[in-house]
Amino acid sequence: MRMGIIVLGLIALLGCSSVNGDTEWWQTMSLYQIYPRSWKDSDGDGIGDLQGIESKLEHLVDAGVDAFWISPIYPSPMADFGYDISDFMDIDPIFGTLDDFDNLVATAKSLGLKVVMDFVPNHSSDEHEWFINSMASVDPYTDYYIWKNGTVLENGTITPPNNWVSVFGGSAWTWNNQRQAYYLHQFAEEQPDLNYWNEEVVAAMKEVLVFWLDRGVDGFRVDAIPHLFEDSTFPDEPLTGDTDDPTDYGYVEHDYTKHLQETYDMVQQWREVLDNYTENSDGVPRIMMAEAYANTSMTMKYYDYGAHFPFNFNLISNVDGSSTAAEIKESALDEWLNNVPDNATSNWVIGNHDKSRVATRYSPEQVDALNIINLLLPGVSVTYYGEEIGMEDQWISYEDTVDPQGCNQDEDTYESYSRDPARTPMQWDATTSAGFSTNESTWLPVNTNYLTLNLAAQVAADTSHYKVYQALTALRKEAVIQEGSVNVQLINNNVFAFMREHSGSVPVMVVANMANNSETVSLEVFDNAADTLLVSIASVDSSLTEGSEVSKTSLEISALSALVLRSGAEALISSGIIILFVTALAYFHH
Ligand code: NOJ
Ligand code: MG
Repeated sequence: MRMGIIVLGLIALLGCSSVNGDTEWWQTMSLYQIYPRSWKDSDGDGIGDLQGIESKLEHLVDAGVDAFWISPIYPSPMADFGYDISDFMDIDPIFGTLDDFDNLVATAKSLGLKVVMDFVPNHSSDEHEWFINSMASVDPYTDYYIWKNGTVLENGTITPPNNWVSVFGGSAWTWNNQRQAYYLHQFAEEQPDLNYWNEEVVAAMKEVLVFWLDRGVDGFRVDAIPHLFEDSTFPDEPLTGDTDDPTDYGYVEHDYTKHLQETYDMVQQWREVLDNYTENSDGVPRIMMAEAYANTSMTMKYYDYGAHFPFNFNLISNVDGSSTAAEIKESALDEWLNNVPDNATSNWVIGNHDKSRVATRYSPEQVDALNIINLLLPGVSVTYYGEEIGMEDQWISYEDTVDPQGCNQDEDTYESYSRDPARTPMQWDATTSAGFSTNESTWLPVNTNYLTLNLAAQVAADTSHYKVYQALTALRKEAVIQEGSVNVQLINNNVFAFMREHSGSVPVMVVANMANNSETVSLEVFDNAADTLLVSIASVDSSLTEGSEVSKTSLEISALSALVLRSGAEALISSGIIILFVTALAYFHH
């Protein structure tokens, strides 16, 4: 009897060997991004809000998510939908009030969810009182922004001081009549860049961090970091030669406006603010995640300068649905894993509010494969809202386009720039506006596929993207995923696989077929895997389902699908018996 209990206990232990507890909360989290305008509308105005978010937090718990970050909810004229902030220390009435925010944080905490704010340090709105005072040269705000006289041509006209281009297209300089000077904006003209050479700006932005820490937030996603500092001698950027269009961001290199060393030093200073806060309060780390589109070495450098992690955009920027398994392994997985510093926490991002959705950038069939890869590789997984159910981009007409990056273009080109298609309302169910709002008209149209593609339908279905997602977040709680090693192998040009191992745990193997045809492969490269494997999670369109037994040396994997495999019960019991034997020896010896 006692033996039986020990055997059962050991088998349970093996399947789910305990995590060692040395990791901090954020290192193993499954993180979810909420785009607040589009998640849940509580008051029927067609735009999401804080009470809406609070009312749906149970969904995150149900999905197995540990933490969420929210795109900006601060007062904003919404020229860039919240990334143009007119008060860093308040809430926009569209989203609610500071009380609503406090309630949201309290409810999140009661559900065990961590809350991460979006900190947007590079720029404010042109309606921020700092900018209003700066235009009027009122101290101490006169030098809060980057002001520069224009170049006066022979014919008397004034042109921008240099050739710097804005990320959203057009000159990065806009003339201001009141101040009789140009101001710099690396994004929209309604987003003047703050002057980080000014110590008062640096101090003011640190106060912003403390303000939100005091309200109970667990950390920050930091926006557009590479753009913080610009060369203060304002040289022309070198031309790339890639395009003849001087209004295109790709017209010039960004040697003088991006990735300056002072930018990294600033990140280090913010880390000190967070660490001081932790030390002087409860000892729980407050985290900083850096948003930086940069090459690998520039990205990894943020680890050395205090970021808990810089987002890993490899699966967004380096590869897509047209990539082979070989390319994905090399340019996304190996590129990260071979360069991440020792002891640093990795992370994986497959979508956000700036990029096409996975179902569109890859294909609807690859939604599960991407979630499987994202959630089972080492470190933090980041899920953009709606990816847990495989939402797709919604085509939006030029007339209905609201994103400045799209509106800056003409009717022929806007589609490759607009970010609206990936920002449509969350598809909760098949009722009015997909259950997002009681209003039939929403700020961006609901995807036309919502009657069939929605959370409620996927909860009710036996197999669905959501069920796969839930199985993955559950598996992430095991030590083998939280702490295990990773070994990535290319099986053939279309198929890659990786194995996660941890002593005392049943290994986990992931096999992904990126081709449009099924492939039969052998996984014998993984010596430690048992000869017979069990499918524990499978893409919804896979011919194999949970519980299917497969052979390690001849495994058929369906087109565009991925499988999560573990050793069968036999292997579990035999390794269980060895441990049992050792335990029994120790017991009787005692
Ligand atoms: C990056 C954000 O993700 C994007 O949405 C925004 O437009 C720019 N930064 C400017 O804040
Ligand atoms: Mg800047």
